Amino acid sequence: MKLLHIDTSILGENSVSRQLTAAIVARLQAVHGPLEIRYLDLGAEPLAHLSGAHLAAAQGATPESAALALDLQRGGEALETFLAADIIVVGAPMYNFTVSSQLKAWIDRVCVAGKTFRYGDTGPQGLAGGKKVIIASSRGGFYGPQTPAAALEHQESYLRGVFAFLGITAVTFVRAEGVNISPDQRQAAITAATAEAAQLAA
Ligand SMILES: Cc1cc2nc3c(=O)[nH]c(=O)nc-3n(C[C@H](O)[C@H](O)[C@H](O)COP(=O)(O)O)c2cc1C
Repeated sequence: MKLLHIDTSILGENSVSRQLTAAIVARLQAVHGPLEIRYLDLGAEPLAHLSGAHLAAAQGATPESAALALDLQRGGEALETFLAADIIVVGAPMYNFTVSSQLKAWIDRVCVAGKTFRYGDTGPQGLAGGKKVIIASSRGGFYGPQTPAAALEHQESYLRGVFAFLGITAVTFVRAEGVNISPDQRQAAITAATAEAAQLAA
């Protein structure tokens, strides 16, 4: 079984989502036995923003630089690794009310018409179904449905929508929120989310 583990936080060792993805992957290894794991640290080694030059190269143009050629290769590998994975564990910090730009750059490489979705007579159809996605969500404040900031929640809802668009509906969130409210709240949120990770089913 193949597991893709992605971290996208820019906060290094202080990252909450990195702690949570590590706990989730450890739990999945415990319940599944040995897994073939691919790890992408997109906080440390981000993919470039998708650009016109990327799209031109996808249409057959010669990449205009060695850096672009390398980034195209990494983007292609990211897509293949995503398609091959049975389980995907995603670290998804909330930055400015949505996902990190590093995670968005990865999403831009895996949402590819003809590979992971297509448009047909009945509308869009996801082509990447059958995978399980577990998202480690971390955020400084609270964004539940009854909170004053609920309308600014464009992180978990966005991810749920993107994966559904690709045909993936088995999406689980392990969430630590309110981590910037106070040190006590931060610790309580991390402890609860880590305990939740330790209970994940196969
Ligand atoms: C650049 C930046 C933007 C942030 N924007 C928000 C935000 O819009 N809403 C929020 O609740 N917390 C915000 N935070 C707090 C983070 O969500 C919080 O620190 C969380 O732990 C980030 O996950 P990480 O620790 O894995 O990086 C922001 C933090 C940073 C560094």
